[in-house]
Amino acid sequence: MKLAIIGLGRVGQSLAKGWSETGHILLLGTRDTSDPKATTLASQTGGTLLPPAEAAAQADVVVLALPWPAAEAATKALGDLAGKIVIDCMNPLGMIDGLFGLTIGHTTSGAETLAGWLPGAKVVKTLNQVGAEIMADNTRLPHRPVMFMAGDDDSAKASVAALLTALGFDPQDAGDLTKARILEPFALVWINQALRRGNGRNWAFAAVSQP
Ligand SMILES: NC(=O)c1ccc[n+]([C@@H]2O[C@H](COP(=O)([O-])OP(=O)(O)OC[C@H]3O[C@@H](n4cnc5c(N)ncnc54)[C@H](OP(=O)(O)O)[C@@H]3O)[C@@H](O)[C@H]2O)c1
Repeated sequence: MKLAIIGLGRVGQSLAKGWSETGHILLLGTRDTSDPKATTLASQTGGTLLPPAEAAAQADVVVLALPWPAAEAATKALGDLAGKIVIDCMNPLGMIDGLFGLTIGHTTSGAETLAGWLPGAKVVKTLNQVGAEIMADNTRLPHRPVMFMAGDDDSAKASVAALLTALGFDPQDAGDLTKARILEPFALVWINQALRRGNGRNWAFAAVSQP
């Protein structure tokens, strides 16, 4: 598949590295294709650097790895993504009454807000629940890390599940896109524990069942 990664920050870079050598074509969408960060990533992953809208237009799957405050304008500038799978890695983080948390929740989610900006796109919420580093390098974990996804289109979720498996995750379907309302706060559990456990960011959640 042709995968466009929009935003080559921590998440975008990790995902490009994780999907390199998996047989997918990587289209790396960046505002500055001459940025050394971007050119280095392209040479490391074999990806092609393109302006974001060109990358998205050519892709089957568009991965959004943008800061939430930039998301609306940057997403709308991508043009018509109807029919494409859109992976939403973003968390609508900010300060609320002096506390770090989600600026959207309970009655909607970042992913549902995003879907409203992209009519006809098959939005799947996932890859928002662990730190960027573990998305590219998780083979030394004692359990396969779980990654939940939420979306309204079952065939899109099947394609995304295969992409998650290629990254080393155990994909689990949380249900329709409204379940992003539980997956976005779940990211805060990871952030909280990354700060409190004293073991840094090199960890993830696992789903383990007793036989
Ligand atoms: N960091 C994590 O561990 C982590 C984990 C899970 C989810 N997330 C979520 O994933 C998203 C990205 O996080 P990140 O840590 O990768 O952020 P980041 O390192 O700040 O990178 C974001 C990238 O978005 C692009 N960008 C920034 N402003 C833009 C604008 N106005 N228009 C277009 N593109 C813009 C830039 O890429 P270009 O310069 O290449 O265009 C930038 O490098 C966030 O919503 C975050 O909550 C982060």
